[in-house]
Amino acid sequence: MEQSFIMIKPDGVQRGLVGEIISRFEKKGFSLRGLKLMSVDRAFAENHYSDLAGKPFFNGLIEYIISGPVVAMIWEGKNVVATGRKIIGATKPVDSDVGTIRGDFAIDVGRNIIHGSDSVESARKEIALWFPEGPVYWQSSLHSWIYE
Ligand code: GTP
Ligand code: MG
Repeated sequence: MEQSFIMIKPDGVQRGLVGEIISRFEKKGFSLRGLKLMSVDRAFAENHYSDLAGKPFFNGLIEYIISGPVVAMIWEGKNVVATGRKIIGATKPVDSDVGTIRGDFAIDVGRNIIHGSDSVESARKEIALWFPEGPVYWQSSLHSWIYE
């Protein structure tokens, strides 16, 4: 089934939002396939955000991502990439709907708490980068209560 790479950024970790964020993905019905607390170096962060190299905010973004530990996760479920982006909310918190993670907890675009893959193809690349060991497979006993 479809997988997405979700990362709680250093501000989300420092602000004690790890449990709240995991809870939102769990309650939706998605399945956790990978989870680790990590500190990444500059080269790793630049690789993750290589699509944005050259943007005026790129250096600030890299400084932000390497400023403290992050929580890297793989979540799985039907349409998890698109739905994960909805749960997270728009990039700029001023545009994020209330009820989304960024809409509820963030103010500045440069401190927007969480990353989610923007396509199935990006998810595949990001999971390979962050989880070279691969996902952990298991089946929730709730599966038939979540999927028809
Ligand atoms: P991610 O899930 O983190 O990839 O965010 P996104 O897909 O919603 O946005 P995008 O990939 O375009 O940008 C990646 C990250 O760069 C954003 O989440 C922000 O943290 C940061 N960013 C994007 N645009 C701006 C900007 O205009 N100014 C600043 N300071 N940061 C930005
Ligand atoms: Mg993005």
